[in-house]
Amino acid sequence: MPLPPRPKLGDRLPASRPSQETLELLALRRSTPNALITGPGPDAAQIKDLLVIGARISDHRRIVPFRFVVLAGAARVDFGERLAAIFADKNPEADLAAVENERQRFARIPVTIAVISAPDKNHKTPLWEQQLTAGAVCQNILIAANAMGFAAQWISEWIAYDREAAKCLGLGTEEKLAGFILLGSAKEPPKERPRVEAQEITQYWRE
Ligand SMILES: Cc1cc2nc3c(=O)[nH]c(=O)nc-3n(C[C@H](O)[C@H](O)[C@H](O)COP(=O)(O)O)c2cc1C
Repeated sequence: MPLPPRPKLGDRLPASRPSQETLELLALRRSTPNALITGPGPDAAQIKDLLVIGARISDHRRIVPFRFVVLAGAARVDFGERLAAIFADKNPEADLAAVENERQRFARIPVTIAVISAPDKNHKTPLWEQQLTAGAVCQNILIAANAMGFAAQWISEWIAYDREAAKCLGLGTEEKLAGFILLGSAKEPPKERPRVEAQEITQYWRE
């Protein structure tokens, strides 16, 4: 399914777009646990489209406080080797299966998009808002992937909090991993999980 042509600067765009299909997609949205993700995944053109949609998020003062690293093809295997080595080094008590799990973590997923929070600490826009923007990027990709027909999951794991792994991914000192968005197809449909009743966490403000 191709994306519509990119609007030109200043083009008038619909302020709303009633769509039962979009509502259904959101109301029934479910991540696919990574153990259930297999091939096929998005091809090069589809990855490009996912990145375009990922980047089309709300961004206070348009500072683009995020960037992408794509894990695809043979690079997944190379990244897995590096990750397994870091994991084994930091967890000397880990058994072979645990190390192998790290080696395969991305190699067995068709495509992963790492969304990197890349804030400008000195910018007028608060750091918190810049970080929220990176989170919104992740959710946009997750939803767009489902709309393209792919299964997806947002993970962080230990990798998001390990400096060596961050360096291996190419992160700068001020950058953080907002999430790895795993992309592929579901071996079986994921099951509904417990959900909060939104009204239980909602108050209408009054004095
Ligand atoms: C910031 C963030 C990090 C997450 N990291 C992990 C993770 O490392 N491993 C994992 O199994 N799930 C992780 N999750 C949760 C799943 O991606 C998913 O949201 C959860 O299984 C609920 O499924 P749902 O998206 O269908 O509600 C993370 C979610 C978020 C928002």
